[in-house]
Amino acid sequence: MFSESFLMELADRNDIVDVVSEYVRLGKRSGANLFGLCPFHNEKTPSFSVSPDKQIYHCFGCGKGGGVINFIMEIESFSFPEAVEFLARRAGMTVPQQENDRESRHRARLYDANREAARFYYQLLQSPAGERGREYVSQRRLTAKTVKTFGLGYAPQEWDALAKELRGKGFSEQELLDADLVRRGRNGGVYDTFRNRLVFPVVDVRGNVAGFSGRIIGEGEPKYLNTRETAVYNKGRLLFGLNLARKSRKDYLILVEGNVDVVSLHQAGFDSAVAALGTALTNEQARLISRYKNEVILAYDSDGAGLKAAQRSIDILEKLDVKVRVLRWQDAKDPDEYIQKFGPGGFLALVEKSESQIDYRLQNIRRKYDFSVPEQKVDYLREATQLVATFPGSVERQVYAMRVAELAEVQADAVIKEVERQRRRQVSGAKKNLERENRAVNTVQPPERSLRYENPVSAAAEEGIVRLLFLEPSLAGTAEGLIREEEFTSKALGHMYALILARIREHRAVNTTVLSEELTAEEMNLLIRLLNKPEVLPHASEILQDYVRVIKKQQEAAEPSPDLRQLADRLKNDGKGYRS
Ligand code: GTP
Ligand code: MN
Repeated sequence: MFSESFLMELADRNDIVDVVSEYVRLGKRSGANLFGLCPFHNEKTPSFSVSPDKQIYHCFGCGKGGGVINFIMEIESFSFPEAVEFLARRAGMTVPQQENDRESRHRARLYDANREAARFYYQLLQSPAGERGREYVSQRRLTAKTVKTFGLGYAPQEWDALAKELRGKGFSEQELLDADLVRRGRNGGVYDTFRNRLVFPVVDVRGNVAGFSGRIIGEGEPKYLNTRETAVYNKGRLLFGLNLARKSRKDYLILVEGNVDVVSLHQAGFDSAVAALGTALTNEQARLISRYKNEVILAYDSDGAGLKAAQRSIDILEKLDVKVRVLRWQDAKDPDEYIQKFGPGGFLALVEKSESQIDYRLQNIRRKYDFSVPEQKVDYLREATQLVATFPGSVERQVYAMRVAELAEVQADAVIKEVERQRRRQVSGAKKNLERENRAVNTVQPPERSLRYENPVSAAAEEGIVRLLFLEPSLAGTAEGLIREEEFTSKALGHMYALILARIREHRAVNTTVLSEELTAEEMNLLIRLLNKPEVLPHASEILQDYVRVIKKQQEAAEPSPDLRQLADRLKNDGKGYRS
C-alpha cells in the first residue's frame, strides 16, 4: 500500500496528457478533450479521449478508461505497484521503500539468470556442439530467422553445462535452484534441468525471460519439460508467444496447444499465435489476451481433448467479451502439421472460413437433441432461441434465428417471432418506466461481461448515484439514508458506492487515482464510462431521489422467471411451425 499523499503527488507530477502522448499521438482538442487512436484496440478514426481537466482517459470504442496509473497498468501490462514505480521513476520521485524490496531484488536476479541461460542455449545451438539441435530444427523445418525471433536454443546432453556456465557468471547455486534452471539430484549435487532438448524461452509481455519449455530432441519421455513454478514463472499467467503476438497487426490472436504450433504459425506469417503452456486456458491468461486483442481464433488439436479444451476456453474468453472463432480441419493433428501439409495458404483458408463462436455453440446445442423425437426438437428450439435472444443486434438475432430454424427444419418466421418475444421479456416494459422517470439515461451494458447488468433499468439509476456522489460528495449523507449497498443490483456499482461513501465519511479524497488502487481494471473502466455521462448538478439532490425511486420500484417489480414450459407448448401447438 502506498500512502495517499504519495499517490496524489505522483498523479500531480505525471500529467496524463504528457504520459499518454508518449504512446498515442493526440490530435486536436475537441471540446475539453484531446483525441487520438486508441492503443488498446484497432481503429481508424480516433475514439480515444483524454481529459486534461479530469486527468482521465476514456475510449468510446472499447470502453477502457481510467487515470494515469490505470493507463500505465494497461499499456505496459503492469501491476498497480509496478505502474506506480514506473511513474515515480518517470517523475524523478523516490518510491517509498516497500518491505518486499528484497523479494523484488531476488526476482530481478532470477530474470538475469534466465536471460543468461537463454543466451547460453541460443549460442550453443549455433555452435559446433549444437549439431544435434540444428538437425532437429531443420527436421522440423524451422528457419534460422525463426530460431532467432524466438531465441530458440539447445540444451546439451551433459549434466551440468549450464550450471557451470552460470556459476562462472556469478550466480549462486541457490539462485539457479530458485529459477529451476538446475535441480538437486539424489547425491546432493545439482544437475541441469534441461538436457538434450530444444528450448523455447518463455518471455513475458515486458520482455523478461520468465522460464523455459524444453522439447526432447526426437523421441523420449517426457516430451516436454517446463520450468516449475518459480518466483518469476507462473504458467497460468504466461502465454508462449504473447511477447511477439501482442505487437502483431492482426486483429485476432490464434490460440493453439503446442509450442511448435506457435513457432510454425509465426514462420508461416501468422504472427499472432500463442499457446497456453500445456495447461487449459486460465482466467488470468484470458485477461491478458483481452488486453491486446478482442478476438481469438481457437486452433486446438482436432482430438477429443482439444474439443473439450476449446469449449472451456470459449466460456472463459466470452466472459471477458473476447470474440471467439473456432478452427476446424481434417487430415492433420495440429496446426503445425496442417501447415506442413497444406502450406500457409491452406491455413489462411481455414481462418477465413472459421466458425463464429455462435455457430459453434448453436451446433453444440443441436448435437444434444434427437430430432426424431418431437419433444426434443422443441427443447432444442427453446434452448437455441434463448441464446439468440441475448444477442444485442436485431439483425444478428434475425440471422441466427433463421439458422436455428434451418437446423430444426421449421419455418423461420415462427422462430424469429419467438426470439423477439423472449427478447422483449428480457428487456421488458420496465425500460419505459426509466425513460419516464429518469431523463434520458440510456443504460449501455458494460463491455466487460463479468460486470453485465442483470437489471439494466436499476443499474442505470445505480450508475447515476455513483456519478452524483463522485461529483457532489456533499450528498453522501442523503444517499446513505436512502439506499444501502446491498440494494444495488450490480455488485460492481454497489462496491463503488460503498467505497466512495466510506471515503467521504472519513474525509478522504474521492478521485480516480485513489480509487484505482481499490477497484479492478474492469470496475475502473466502468467507473470512467459512467463518469463520462452527463449529469445535471444543479438539481443533484432531487435527481438522487429519482434514482433511488427507480431502484426501489425495480425491487418491487422483480420479475417472475419466464415460464419455459408454456413457451414450449406454444411452439409445439403452433402447427405452422413444422414442415413435416
Ligand atoms: P510436437 O509433437 O513436437 O509437434 O509438439 P507440440 O509442440 O505440438 O506439442 P503437443 O501438441 O504434443 O502438446 C501441446 C503442449 O502440451 C506442449 O506445447 C506442452 O506445453 C504440453 N505438453 C505436451 N507434452 C507434455 C509433457 O510430456 N509434459 C508437460 N509438462 N507438458 C507437455
Ligand atoms: Mn505438434
